[in-house]
Amino acid sequence: MPDSDAGSAESRAAVASAGAGTVPILEFDRVTVHYGASRALNEVSLTVRPGEIVSLLGGNASGKSTTMKTALGLLAPSSGVVRIDGVDVGKSPPSARIAAGLASVPEARRVFPAMTVQENLFVGGYIRKERRSVLAARAAEMFEHFPRLAQRRTQRAGTLSGGEQQMLAFARALMSKPRLICMDEPTMGLSPLFVDRVLDEIARLNQELGLAILIVEQQAELALSIAHTANVLRTGEIVLHGPAGELIDNPAVRDAYLGKAAA
Ligand SMILES: Nc1ncnc2c1ncn2[C@@H]1O[C@H](COP(=O)(O)OP(=O)(O)OP(=O)(O)O)[C@@H](O)[C@H]1O
Ligand SMILES: [Mg+2]
Repeated sequence: MPDSDAGSAESRAAVASAGAGTVPILEFDRVTVHYGASRALNEVSLTVRPGEIVSLLGGNASGKSTTMKTALGLLAPSSGVVRIDGVDVGKSPPSARIAAGLASVPEARRVFPAMTVQENLFVGGYIRKERRSVLAARAAEMFEHFPRLAQRRTQRAGTLSGGEQQMLAFARALMSKPRLICMDEPTMGLSPLFVDRVLDEIARLNQELGLAILIVEQQAELALSIAHTANVLRTGEIVLHGPAGELIDNPAVRDAYLGKAAA
């Protein structure tokens, strides 16, 4: 289980200052994205630094998933620049982004239902074109980290519970040895108890492995409780940005996203 200090203001501040001045793993510099003639993102700028948890908040259709897909190379900007480690990645495909250290836990988990737990893990590592023995060793590490998956290694992924599929989606993403994981609503459809567990797990991955995380999460208060910084999107534009601890106290954020009257 995560340290009880996980996500505390002190540990967040420590990471934030450690990350300051370093080259961001991921950077959007005035990125605009269109679907055909319709504009979904308008000059979005954001950064994710090594070891940082960055939360993306916003209502339905505000552009959160579009931002994730653009980071992963599934969509190309119509203007603006996406950089990984300070380098313009242009229109490079998802495979190149994964090779550069990004990984994704996609919307609705999307494990391969007919494949076993173990086969799903191998697919996650395959993109790096490593030897099977290397992948097997890494899968063994994942089974150590997620003992529930170890008990189910030969079970078809489609028969796992929702929470177990979520765990498998995390483990599969970790198989490519990423430095940044993009997670689009990782707790969607999970019961409140599992939501807490998944967010604890995210904080643990961040603290123990130093992983940077870009997370879209409807449960804004929970997302802000583990995040270091946060960005609020509205109709494709970033309207608020700052340390998570400040946004959680911002009356506009509390009104719009936390379901609470402004203090
Ligand atoms: N493939 C597509 N073709 C056309 N328009 C799209 C496509 N995907 C998304 N859009 C539009 O882009 C806008 C942003 O969508 P996006 O999926 O990024 O929103 P979101 O913030 O993730 O919303 P939600 O909270 O509902 O998941 C929406 O108006 C949506 O209808
Ligand atoms: Mg979405």
